[in-house]
Amino acid sequence: MSKRIEVEDLNVYYSDFLAVEGVSIDIQPRTVTAFIGPSGCGKSTFLRTLNRMHEVIPGGHVKGRVLVDGDDLYGPGVDPVLVRRHVGMVFQRPNPFPTMSIRENVLAGARLNNKRLSKGDADALVEKSLQGANLWNEVKDRLDKPGGGLSGGQQQRLCIARAIAVSPDVLLMDEPCSALDPISTFAIEELISELKNDYTIVIVTHNMQQASRVSDKTAFFNIAGTGKPGKLIEYNDTATIFTAPTVQATEDYVSGRFG
Ligand SMILES: Nc1ncnc2c1ncn2[C@@H]1O[C@H](COP(=O)(O)OP(=O)(O)OP(=O)(O)O)[C@@H](O)[C@H]1O
Ligand SMILES: [Mg+2]
Repeated sequence: MSKRIEVEDLNVYYSDFLAVEGVSIDIQPRTVTAFIGPSGCGKSTFLRTLNRMHEVIPGGHVKGRVLVDGDDLYGPGVDPVLVRRHVGMVFQRPNPFPTMSIRENVLAGARLNNKRLSKGDADALVEKSLQGANLWNEVKDRLDKPGGGLSGGQQQRLCIARAIAVSPDVLLMDEPCSALDPISTFAIEELISELKNDYTIVIVTHNMQQASRVSDKTAFFNIAGTGKPGKLIEYNDTATIFTAPTVQATEDYVSGRFG
């Protein structure tokens, strides 16, 4: 279930390159946190450290600590595969397995965890996950058709269903609506508002309206120049970030003066 994420003085590297420096942030359960900031400031890089996906990239490593309900994700003996089961991720471009059926797409992660899923349990999990992702009614009569046959917005909700089918504690979403039309975007935003009852959600977005609509807290990241590390500049209630930020750069960014 929903968990707290505490990050303590995290540095994120690609080999020698320090991409993100000194991030400390405390993210509460059952909240939506938006990461905003100009391109290249390290939002995706930092997000990927929250489920150890960063280390999949050759040379990718971190210094500092990430605690999920007090447990250090980077502690000795912690299995990154297990971490990713508890901290799910949804990417910018919907990435279902295109030839795999809708049903099997939903079950893809769950099958890795439990090889002996019975037909009845699988059916129940498919329905529950698709209901949770607000997609069930649209696909219930074609569960055996390929995932690639869905619209972009449906595919993104299918990926959300796949992510929640493994019952994660945290959902990370990197610009989940950037490839979607306004109606699909609205559907995803509605869904995020519902999912926060069960999950800790972190979403990266370039859309300021979206950040103010869906998030409780907003973290503004910035970069001092090319080759410099990205930093967390300001983190506060979303309303405060958008109406009364403390730092001038935050104000300039949210009012559209740069980025
Ligand atoms: N796989 C990689 N190898 C090396 N450097 C990388 C890699 N991915 C990102 N970087 C670098 O890390 C820095 C942060 O990039 P990142 O993609 O995290 O930014 P971002 O804030 O998500 O940008 P955008 O808004 O454009 O998605 C950039 O300087 C980028 O070039
Ligand atoms: Mg990014």
